Amino acid sequence: MSVELLIRGRILNFNSLPASIDDADAYEYIEDGTLIIKDQKIIGMGCYEDLAKTYAHYTHIDHRPFLLLAGLIDLHNHFPQVEVIGSYGTQLLEWLNKYTFPAEAKFSDTEHSTRMAKVFLDMLLSNGTTTSVSFGSVHTNSVDALFREADKRNMCLVAGKVMMDRNAPESVLDTPERSYDETKYLIKKWHKLGRNYYAITPRFAITSSPEQLEVASSLVSESPDCYLQTHLSETREEIELTMSLYPKAINYLGIYDSYNLLGKKSLMGHSIYLSESELETMSERDCVAVHCPTSNMFLGSGLFDLEKFLKRNIRTGISTDVGGGTSFSMLASLDGAYKIQQFRNYSINPFFSFYWATLGNAVALGLQDEIGNLLPGRYADFIVLDPKAIPISKVRMENCSSLVEELFILQTLGDDRSVRAVYVSGNCVIDKGT
Ligand code: GUN
Ligand code: ZN
Repeated sequence: MSVELLIRGRILNFNSLPASIDDADAYEYIEDGTLIIKDQKIIGMGCYEDLAKTYAHYTHIDHRPFLLLAGLIDLHNHFPQVEVIGSYGTQLLEWLNKYTFPAEAKFSDTEHSTRMAKVFLDMLLSNGTTTSVSFGSVHTNSVDALFREADKRNMCLVAGKVMMDRNAPESVLDTPERSYDETKYLIKKWHKLGRNYYAITPRFAITSSPEQLEVASSLVSESPDCYLQTHLSETREEIELTMSLYPKAINYLGIYDSYNLLGKKSLMGHSIYLSESELETMSERDCVAVHCPTSNMFLGSGLFDLEKFLKRNIRTGISTDVGGGTSFSMLASLDGAYKIQQFRNYSINPFFSFYWATLGNAVALGLQDEIGNLLPGRYADFIVLDPKAIPISKVRMENCSSLVEELFILQTLGDDRSVRAVYVSGNCVIDKGT
């Protein structure tokens, strides 16, 4: 049956990166706004008064006084790490060995993968995340299960099986040959099927032999419209071990560059300790630095340097990095990013924050014509935010006099309770209001 909806509420829609807190051209704010939805797409956005008559026959849904925003995009997370969120007392390499690899080993089981895929996507959606870029486990069936569940929900998913052939337990390892065959199989099966996209996923240089990075290189050249996702320069200990495994490399990013893995579809998770020469390479190759703030704080990894990327016009994205990250909420990620930049004496402005988690991440994926804002032609992926949903935010909102303050309160105090409704491809998948 055809979906025909007229959605009423306060609209915040981003058009470009806000250069400053006063850059009013970067967004539109419509106090009595309306979205017109036909089937899976947005076909109109504007003032209620201007659209109400034309679409009087559409089903009216009134979300006033709440805020309508494009669905949030999580640019880096790990599907098989749902069960290790909040694991005590370690930093990256020990955390991987002690908690993460054993948890990921369980995803050889299809039933477990399917159950966790449902939990994972339900968690994302209830937090207002309508697009996810996810690492699977090494097992083909874990990624199969995740794509299958995302497809059922008609949500946009970018995902891939991790390629890893060394420095981890046997139960989570493949081989260069197997990683090639399995990645090929998954690309053929899922890439561009519905709203799914494949990401070629060498986990990081520590767990991939030179032979496996060679295979990743072939996969990228054979499927140039797939994404590539990996980890880069997250902790000092990781960098030291990486450089000892690739002694001829000029630097960490240089390893990936020497296998031609860098391009405009390459998503480099963490990107914390980059040298000037690595930043230059990132800029030349036009790849994306993906910030993972709650993970970086939880694992004690380091302080991402946002200004360095902004100054060079290098695209950045923001993500939860669940389960190194401690929350499925992109609001929590924005809060974490703000706090990390405070250590660098840089206060991220709230318009930039909300741009970042929506259109910014869409631009990072090159999907800005499909997702990230509310313009006609985009998928009807949007959320309804209630800044007064939480007792303390309700009290705090009594002392709020501007949109920018409201956004900052949402990001600082908000969580899944602030997300009142979620629409994916025109379907209401979460509704806490009625
Ligand atoms: N580096 C390699 N694998 C991982 C992972 O699963 N999480 C994080 N945070 N860093 C990694
Ligand atoms: Zn990660």
